[in-house]
Amino acid sequence: MEEDSDSDNNSLASLKQQGSNKKNARSKSMPDSYSDSGSDSHASLKQRSSKKKSKSKSTPNRRSTASEVTPHIPGRSRPLMSPTSVLEEARARLHVFVESKILDGTGGCMYISGVPGTGKTATVHEVIRALNKAYEDGELSQFKYISINGMRLTEPRQAYVQILKQLTGQKATPDHAADLLNKKFTTPGPRKETIVMLADELDLLWTRKQDVMYNLFDWPSQRHARLVVLAVANTMDLPERIMMKRVASRIGLTRMTFQPYTFKQLQEIVVSRMKGLKAFDSDAIQLAARKVAAVSGDARRALDICRRSTEIAEKRSPSKKSNILVGMSHVDAALQEMFSSPKIVAIRGLSNQEKLFLRAIVAEFTRSGLEEAEFSRIYTQHISLCRFEGLTPPTTSQLASICSRLGSIRLLLVEHGRHDLQLRVRLNISQDDILFALKEKTNV
Ligand SMILES: Nc1ncnc2c1ncn2[C@@H]1O[C@H](COP(=O)(O)OP(=O)(O)OP(=O)(O)O)[C@@H](O)[C@H]1O
Ligand SMILES: [Mg+2]
Repeated sequence: MEEDSDSDNNSLASLKQQGSNKKNARSKSMPDSYSDSGSDSHASLKQRSSKKKSKSKSTPNRRSTASEVTPHIPGRSRPLMSPTSVLEEARARLHVFVESKILDGTGGCMYISGVPGTGKTATVHEVIRALNKAYEDGELSQFKYISINGMRLTEPRQAYVQILKQLTGQKATPDHAADLLNKKFTTPGPRKETIVMLADELDLLWTRKQDVMYNLFDWPSQRHARLVVLAVANTMDLPERIMMKRVASRIGLTRMTFQPYTFKQLQEIVVSRMKGLKAFDSDAIQLAARKVAAVSGDARRALDICRRSTEIAEKRSPSKKSNILVGMSHVDAALQEMFSSPKIVAIRGLSNQEKLFLRAIVAEFTRSGLEEAEFSRIYTQHISLCRFEGLTPPTTSQLASICSRLGSIRLLLVEHGRHDLQLRVRLNISQDDILFALKEKTNV
């Protein structure tokens, strides 16, 4: 692209840059790195929250009530943009939760779940940013923010090592770190600031022994810990699976669930990324938003498609100059491209029964809200799909061999050394990829 400062081009560049920032953010260990890209993505959200903050500036250390941070009340005089309001409510609720713990000097755990790309991580980062600002403005006492991410740990017990390192700068083996942390959180002592910990991508900390997750839920309930854990995961019922019901209720988790975005919300998110600049034909945004909403409601996917569309538009532009407007044809091309990714091609090449098995897995995950299922349950789904499609259902052993073949080509993750009905199955590809791949090409 040339040196011009054309607004359309800038907007293209900003969309692309934000995209790469996001990717960086996912690969860095400290979420502070998220700051600018995340704040842009939540431009509208931020604007409202900063308005809210300036209102309460004059009264330091005063606890805000839900009504103050919820956009509905201060925003009564102006129209509320409904598409982001669900997310705003989540942000406000989380803000009040963490803030009240800091002010009271107590602890607690919020369990945040939802399917990928629904804004969980972005919301937590946004709230931490707002709380940091409140501290800088003298409205809130100091707190220490640390974070771990299941995806970036080589093994679950590395969580102890990372937590200890972020808290004290000390390096230790996982066992030693676990001991030190246990002592720190369970014994009374002179305590200063509240610790706010984000434990993201928690699903990946799942081990047979489960001590890491157990501790993450248990430490905040210790009277002397002054620890607030924000546990983020895709799976809805991790806490129940980790702890006995009795323990789970003693700990008293607060919960928040993020729903997949609707077409309108996705459209709004893409538009907010453009920061008011016109780089996209509005029909083109609509097309991308509709395609994604029909499959998964994942904002990341919608943004990826738009980003790829801008690249295609730039490549196709004869002059490589100003006024590139991304249109339907570019979005269409980006969608087509997605359909020819290696994973999608692999799924497309499967036999009908194998494809059906993948659909049965997605159906079972949707039914249970979990990202893992027993073979027997998938089998039941598979049979009903066969009936629906008028196909002869396979026997259990035929289906078991389909399952192990899909495991061997790494489309699935199947439990090793088990060949019974209780065998646990996970996907090694996203549900979107399956749904996108199994839609007719002509449908794109
Ligand atoms: N309401 C929103 N407004 C603007 N951008 C958003 C919104 N929700 C999500 N995004 C963007 O979509 C992308 C995915 O969001 P985020 O990382 O928060 O998802 P997530 O729920 O944490 O997903 P995962 O479970 O995969 O970690 C990010 O780039 C984020 O900035
Ligand atoms: Mg996330």
